[in-house]
Amino acid sequence: MTIERTFSIVKPNAVAKNVIGAIYARFESAGLKIVAAKMLQLTRAQAEGFYAEHQGKPFFDGLVGFMISGPVVVQVLEGEDAVRRNREIMGATNPANALAGTLRSDYADSLTENAVHGSDAVESAAREIAYFFSEDEICPRTR
Ligand code: PPS
Repeated sequence: MTIERTFSIVKPNAVAKNVIGAIYARFESAGLKIVAAKMLQLTRAQAEGFYAEHQGKPFFDGLVGFMISGPVVVQVLEGEDAVRRNREIMGATNPANALAGTLRSDYADSLTENAVHGSDAVESAAREIAYFFSEDEICPRTR
């Protein structure tokens, strides 16, 4: 199995619930290492650019409005099979379909306010990581 990197966001509703640490504990318990992290107040332009693939969809404006409603925490997670493993921890996009014990089952408030984002493939992870982090902000973990 190869070591992968994936991109993750703790969304504004989860930051407001004060569960950043609880979410990080889930990543770490699953064997994912945090190799970059920062808290940001996204601008509208940043949020629109990040979700550009959804532009024109009926939920786009609501999604962007939510993502700029308060600070987010963005991080790069590294580990074996990191993309799939992170999505397993997160649970389904719609919390109504998220398995018990997943982050969205525990912390999402709705399909829009669904607590966390995680890349859906290695290719999108690379693009999303580069959107928020320069290479020198990522700290390889050797132990
Ligand atoms: S889709 O339906 O294929 O475009 O959905 P997906 O690729 O899984 O990502 C959708 C992201 O938009 C957020 N969002 C919504 N999706 C669907 N319906 C509604 N009403 C909606 N509102 C917001 C959803 O949480 C996904 O966000 P991320 O950050 O990618 O998880």
